[in-house]
Amino acid sequence: MYGLLRAFLFLFEPERIHRFVSRLIRFLGKHAGLAALLRRRLAVEDERLAVRAFGLRFPSPLGLAAGFDKGEGLAAGLFALGFGSVEVGTITPRPQPGNPQPRMFRLPAQQALINRMGFNNAGAAEASTRYRLLAFRPGPLGINLGKNKETPAERAAEDYLAAFDALADVGDYFVVNVSSPNTPGLRDLQAPEALRSILVPLVAAAQARGGKPVLLKLAPDLADEDVDALSDLAREVGLAGLILANTTIGRPTAEGEPVAKEAGGMSGAPLLGRALALVSRVYLRHGSRLPIIGVGGIFDADDAWRMIRAGATLVQGYTGFIYGGPGYAHRIERGLLRHLEQAGLPGIEAAVGLDAREGAATPSAPARLGV
Ligand SMILES: Cc1cc2nc3c(=O)[nH]c(=O)nc-3n(C[C@H](O)[C@H](O)[C@H](O)COP(=O)(O)O)c2cc1C
Repeated sequence: MYGLLRAFLFLFEPERIHRFVSRLIRFLGKHAGLAALLRRRLAVEDERLAVRAFGLRFPSPLGLAAGFDKGEGLAAGLFALGFGSVEVGTITPRPQPGNPQPRMFRLPAQQALINRMGFNNAGAAEASTRYRLLAFRPGPLGINLGKNKETPAERAAEDYLAAFDALADVGDYFVVNVSSPNTPGLRDLQAPEALRSILVPLVAAAQARGGKPVLLKLAPDLADEDVDALSDLAREVGLAGLILANTTIGRPTAEGEPVAKEAGGMSGAPLLGRALALVSRVYLRHGSRLPIIGVGGIFDADDAWRMIRAGATLVQGYTGFIYGGPGYAHRIERGLLRHLEQAGLPGIEAAVGLDAREGAATPSAPARLGV
């Protein structure tokens, strides 16, 4: 049924549809009773799906990835659609408009999107007010932090701290985003020394606020060795985990596609191979000492299951949700239960890293992700 509706929605400019759908989700989130009712139908409540990570309980391993709710306060309505967690942001300390439109593009043949939103958001103070008022919150709320476009790189740490301070009370976990391709120079902050100067004070601040978990989100375009080094740094400075990965500046599987020429980060199905390879690499290096949220190209339960078996403790999706519609979380959660039953496993946590540990064939990066 969503297929027909999607064909209609896809006739319109992507950001217009995003605004329209956001209004529906906001309405849903404002009525806690309605949200709870819908969640009872859409979320698969089963103890076998529950995951404990960074001191938090996730009712399901599937979360909504950052970027859908950029601090607009939609999280309650998104929880109603069955996600086990919702990560909001990226939120910067001060409001900013983002890049000129159009800045979001569909590639249906590739099941992908390209975006160059540029951290459009209302700023940390406004976001803090909105999340304080959340009527419905059945799972952890992650808050993804960024720096303002005009902040010079050498003052980036101040922005991450300021955004954290404003939002510390309302988030359950926090993410340092240094991996979006749409803020000039942002990804240079993935250099170890630059990153250390951001992470050390932020982890100290998070400790002072009751030990809130801080994670780091990396780009899929980093060389494997750089990911190794950054994963070591993550443990050294006391991060709770890594998110692998953000959108790619590569254009895997989209040659000859005119839209592929648009600047920005690509998400969706073409990312899955690289995300799996990164997750299994980091899992083999650190095991359960550095939990991973695996994200990139998860469209169905098989994709989520592969990501978990590659080493992800939790998974997230965004583009798959756009293509899959409101039943996305439900289908994946049901499918994960089927996988657990077929594998004879008692719960998701028992499946984490099974493929990586067994050295089973985890697909490596597609050759065309030339990065
Ligand atoms: C339109 C759009 C906006 C996004 N905005 C953000 C963002 O603000 N911060 C962030 O960390 N990731 C952002 N992402 C990246 C997603 O969180 C995710 O890492 C990426 O899309 C890969 O997952 P997917 O293939 O399931 O979409 C955005 C993705 C899309 C498609």
